[in-house]
Amino acid sequence: MHLFNAIFFQLIIVAKIASYASAASTPTSNTPSSSCPRSSPTFTKQQCCPWYAIQELLRTDTFDGGSCGKNARAALRLTFHDALGYSKVQENLGKYVGGGADGSILQFPQELGYASNKGLRPIITTLSSFLANHHLASIISLGDLVAFAGTLGLSYCSGAPEMTFYAGRPAAKGPAADGLISGPQDSADDMIARFSDAGFSADELVALLASHSVAAASTLDASIPGAPLDKTPKAFDTRFFNETLSKGKLWPGTPNHYGEVMSPVRGQVRLQSDFVLARDARTAPMWRRYANDADLMRRDFAKAFLKMTLVGQNVSELVDCTEVLRSSI
Ligand code: HEM
Ligand SMILES: *[C@@H]1O[C@H](CO)[C@@H](O)[C@H](O)[C@H]1NC(C)=O
Ligand SMILES: *[C@@H]1O[C@H](CO)[C@@H](O)[C@H](O)[C@H]1NC(C)=O
Repeated sequence: MHLFNAIFFQLIIVAKIASYASAASTPTSNTPSSSCPRSSPTFTKQQCCPWYAIQELLRTDTFDGGSCGKNARAALRLTFHDALGYSKVQENLGKYVGGGADGSILQFPQELGYASNKGLRPIITTLSSFLANHHLASIISLGDLVAFAGTLGLSYCSGAPEMTFYAGRPAAKGPAADGLISGPQDSADDMIARFSDAGFSADELVALLASHSVAAASTLDASIPGAPLDKTPKAFDTRFFNETLSKGKLWPGTPNHYGEVMSPVRGQVRLQSDFVLARDARTAPMWRRYANDADLMRRDFAKAFLKMTLVGQNVSELVDCTEVLRSSI
């Protein structure tokens, strides 16, 4: 009885938040997600308002007060596994295999059953609870939450580029099909073709892989969970590109795991996929340039990453809420 009343009361509050959010006038409620903070810039767009409070809540609840840790990395990876659930080839055939950056990975539990998404269970659970705990389901879309969490998480890593965030993605139309996410055992041909089918050139694929500069692996060799992919997993730097170019000479844990090759450095995992792309004629030139040009790497990553968070979306129907990321309210 008490529980029912509590839930009923919550529903009323949520309804109020929603109506304030659409009223588009001066903030009338101090419920965080309903209105822009008083100190926000006067040009704040109404659609961006909830994100000020969400940023603060995510920082404290999910990102340990703003650290480039496990959840920041996982949220970043989640944007990839959400967005690449899209195929131009299938779309042209009139077949729906996924809406891209649409939050389907949070919405449809069946995607959690795909082998490629195995390591993402903790972050999916974390973000789903976040949404429920703060009664955000009727205020923001899951696609926006995936894009925002990944972008915000990366912003806590030193050396992260300035990124852009758009809000307003509609709800996903359906789950993404299985088999669309490149895996660490894939050939260069397969990875380049898969990214091309989602709208990305080989150069953009290399730029996106700068994210492996803030990455660790837990699903390949269970004897060394959380082993980083470069020496500085909390810094968005060029070391990942540099290190993957050198010769592998040891197994960091136990030998011969699926998708893994020998690493040059003790304690670090080298993905077979990174190894082959660092050496393929189509991707090696950019790989080597990024190893030696941090500014170029950051710039190209920021562009390709924004594009990834917009796969399947019509950007003219979204609202640029980058202002939220630049605020420290
Ligand atoms: C050819 C494409 C890619 C392949 C084959 C690939 C593969 C992998 C694998 C196997 C892991 C380790 C997962 C584990 O064992 O826990 C990983 C981690 C990661 N990947 Fe990728 N990846 C690719 C592209 C991307 C892209 C485009 C992004 C951009 C967002 C990305 C972001 C990450 C991040 C941030 C991690 C670290 C996750 C963590 O520490 O929890 N990856 N990737
Ligand atoms: C990687 O960085 C080291 C140390 O700065 C440098 O000596 C080496 O030449 C670099 N390798 C590549 C392939 O850029
Ligand atoms: C994108 O949205 C704009 C504005 O609503 C619309 O005019 C345009 O036709 C849309 N483009 C596509 C490809 O759907």
